[in-house]
Amino acid sequence: MFTSRYKKLETAIVKVLNNHDIPTLMVKWNWIPFYGHWGVSTSYFQTAAEESRLGKPGSVQERAAEIATLVAQEIELPSGFEKCEAVKGYLNIYFNAAYFTQLVIDSVLLEREKYGSIKKSLELVMVEFSQPNTHKAFHVGHLRNVVIGDAVSNILDFAGNQVIRANYIGDIGLHAVTWLWNYEKYHHGVQPPEKDQICWIGDLYTEAVKRREESSENKEEIKTYFKRWDAKDPEIFSLWKKTRQWSIHAFEQIYDLLDIHFDRVYFESEVEEEGKKLVGEFIKRGLAKDERPEGPVVIYLDELLRTNEEYRVLVLLRSDGTSLYSSKDLSLAIKKFREYELDRSIYVVDVRQSLYLKQIFKALELMGYKWARKCFHLAYEIVNLPGNVTIASREGTVVLMEDLIREAEKRALRIVEEKNPNLDRDQKSIIARTVAIGAIKFSLLSRDNTKVVTFDWETAMNINGKAAPYIQYAAVRANSILRKASFAIPQSEEIGFSLKHEEIELINLISRFPYEVKHAAEELRPLLISQYVYELAKAFNNFYTNCPVLKVDENLRNFRLRLVAASKQTIANSLALLGIQFPEKM
Ligand code: ARG
Repeated sequence: MFTSRYKKLETAIVKVLNNHDIPTLMVKWNWIPFYGHWGVSTSYFQTAAEESRLGKPGSVQERAAEIATLVAQEIELPSGFEKCEAVKGYLNIYFNAAYFTQLVIDSVLLEREKYGSIKKSLELVMVEFSQPNTHKAFHVGHLRNVVIGDAVSNILDFAGNQVIRANYIGDIGLHAVTWLWNYEKYHHGVQPPEKDQICWIGDLYTEAVKRREESSENKEEIKTYFKRWDAKDPEIFSLWKKTRQWSIHAFEQIYDLLDIHFDRVYFESEVEEEGKKLVGEFIKRGLAKDERPEGPVVIYLDELLRTNEEYRVLVLLRSDGTSLYSSKDLSLAIKKFREYELDRSIYVVDVRQSLYLKQIFKALELMGYKWARKCFHLAYEIVNLPGNVTIASREGTVVLMEDLIREAEKRALRIVEEKNPNLDRDQKSIIARTVAIGAIKFSLLSRDNTKVVTFDWETAMNINGKAAPYIQYAAVRANSILRKASFAIPQSEEIGFSLKHEEIELINLISRFPYEVKHAAEELRPLLISQYVYELAKAFNNFYTNCPVLKVDENLRNFRLRLVAASKQTIANSLALLGIQFPEKM
């Protein structure tokens, strides 16, 4: 919305610089930290440094100040900008607040849920995320992945890309075989319970692993079982099919609960055969060494690339010829690019698989796949729970999703009871669910992807701090003002009064939303949106406390109602990018 105004401003600046033969670099804008003023600023240190590089003598600092003063004196400000001043090498330009305010609010209320978005014109991007394993539990570590993957997909989509949300379910491999073996031997014919299916599946998995580690006979039995699986033994195959479905069904319930969907779901089982063939290709081309039957099939990457401990070795097949995680990943990547003309293929995967994915992408490049460079690993760190329980994603301590959500709902209900005791039970529990899910998602998104999240309830459920309930509550407040005015949003009118600084602060933040979206998409960082929406909610609350809306003169009332509606819309759009909703009341 501001882009064209900035362009005009940039043209005006370049004109002054050209008149004085000063080099013109790209103009970088910063938002001015202001109090009651609203504007942007840029600086001339780089320009002065460039001149100095070209041979101009003298101090860069002084020259920057000189250039800024020159521009401030000679610039012809386009309409909408009020004044311009030079301060120690910086050029500060102030908006005509009334003019811009109207422009901002009008566009939010016109574009509504599209406000901040960019027309589809950029890339075709696949974001692979979630990737749970069947026959195992679904825990908090998985949850962080899902929440980041969903938010990144939303942000990329909103920022003008076409996004394919992909899942890659680990339905085969040692873990599944171990589970099947244990089930057949100790729980033959047992049906899963109606409720908490995934807990039951997870518990059986833990039991199975325990038995595997207990005795070498069991280990041998499982090995034999694996070979039978590999040889497509029909008995094991049909058991696998049935039990795998139990997990998939449970995953679907979790995705429903979290309001997350996928456009394409891949399974490890669907790329396994292709993967084995591919390994053959690798051997044929001399890229992989076949050391069977004594050893496995391996790509000695460091040797091939003449690197030192950078890529190490990638094992593709076990010595008995059964396939590994890696051979499947190679064929999965090929399948993705065969199916779609992707500009980018993003993998949201635990940071501990960084070396592994680097090896996979490199191996594909060695095979001559040009698109291998379009593959990108978006790494995320683990989640710590109170008591510092680390949640390993492949084994170890597990805190289940269901338990987490149940506890969150209990706590959210307490908030609702306190804020709004008169609502009926059903209403309260619907609200509690929205708040609970929001709180969990937000707490996983308000840390950088690569930083460990320490999840604790006080922070996640804070109604007065950087947490979803606080932000949701701001939106609910906005909603309740609008409800009192029967949701009739007045027409846009010229603003003939001066604005309070709480108002300007709020409008300034609203106007920044499109930039935040673009930035977050470029950096694949939902964190930027979570920080932004928190600032926005804070600014709204500040406005709410200091600027009465309904009991003021008509002109002002109309303006403030529009501002409330625009705030609510922008909070809603930001939260939507994080996959978070807010209730009508709370
Ligand atoms: N299911 C795997 C695991 O639990 C993660 C899959 C990640 N995606 C991939 N293409 N390797 O470790």
